[in-house]
Amino acid sequence: MNAAERHVPVMLERVVALLAPALAHPGAVLVDATLGLGGHSEAFLRQFPEARLIGLDRDPEALRLAGERLTPYQERITLVHAVYDELPRVLDDLDVPEIDGILFDLGVSSMQLDEAERGFAYAQDAPLDMRMDSTGPTTAADIVNTYSAADLARILYQYGEEKFARRIADRIVREREIEPFTTSARLSELVRNAIPQAARRTGGHPAKRTFQALRIEVNGELDVLRRALPAAIEALALHGRIVVMSYHSLEDRITKQTLAAGTKTDVPDDLPVIPAGHEPYLRLLTRGAERPTEEETAANPRAASARVRAAERVRTKGLVA
Ligand SMILES: C[S@@+](CC[C@H](N)C(=O)[O-])C[C@H]1O[C@@H](n2cnc3c(N)ncnc32)[C@H](O)[C@@H]1O
Repeated sequence: MNAAERHVPVMLERVVALLAPALAHPGAVLVDATLGLGGHSEAFLRQFPEARLIGLDRDPEALRLAGERLTPYQERITLVHAVYDELPRVLDDLDVPEIDGILFDLGVSSMQLDEAERGFAYAQDAPLDMRMDSTGPTTAADIVNTYSAADLARILYQYGEEKFARRIADRIVREREIEPFTTSARLSELVRNAIPQAARRTGGHPAKRTFQALRIEVNGELDVLRRALPAAIEALALHGRIVVMSYHSLEDRITKQTLAAGTKTDVPDDLPVIPAGHEPYLRLLTRGAERPTEEETAANPRAASARVRAAERVRTKGLVA
């Protein structure tokens, strides 16, 4: 299967429509911060023949596959192996002072989920790894075998919204004393057994939430996002646009708060006028979070939890109007 067949880009038309006004001019620069299999990027390159694309991914395998897919556009693309909070350095290295659009399509790609040996999938037996970049320092097995019960419970509760976090964490600690965890199947089985029978009937596969929580911790996903969004907004040109697609309520909350912060002035409410240079620097382009249509979710179940937020840069920070 090639990259195009393996991945259906989520909310593609909407994402293109949200970024389009910023990309229609010659030489426009779009950053795809989560290149994945290049599905969104390919659509942009096709639709905006005079735009240039900078694609980032922390997964070298994704870069390789997207690179193959985007060969027809190679004169207009630069693909970089980077974690997206490294954007300022990447732009600096490429001598790009500002960008016109940036897309974040967060989370794992369908390729990462499909490749059983990478250990993201709870339904298949594989080494307990879950690193998006296999040169990263910490695997899911390291976490499961070394974190305290309290830390494991916290991660499962916060990142997985797992109601039985404490029970699962206690069992992990008990079981790892007998033998450290090395595979996803053993962990998946443990989670299933730790959850009361009545609760197993709802909420999908019982290990889904635990695996999601470990993946977020392994890759430091929320901390990276907290650093990356302000850096991305900072890099936007006047009237540049940012689109963020999240699949998890915590990602969406970070996005919502970061975008909202830019729509407010930073001066106290009781000041009669807003001094120049302190006006809001963002305008929201979405009301609340937008969701995929039922048709899209039916055709592509991976779209089901997607939420999109977007904003336009309406003031250059530091610019005195
Ligand atoms: C949902 S996929 C993107 C799919 C893509 N929009 C497409 O249409 O093919 C997310 C991708 O982002 C990458 N990724 C996740 N977190 C990242 C980060 N902090 N820095 C760079 N890439 C990241 C993953 O490796 C994965 O390939």
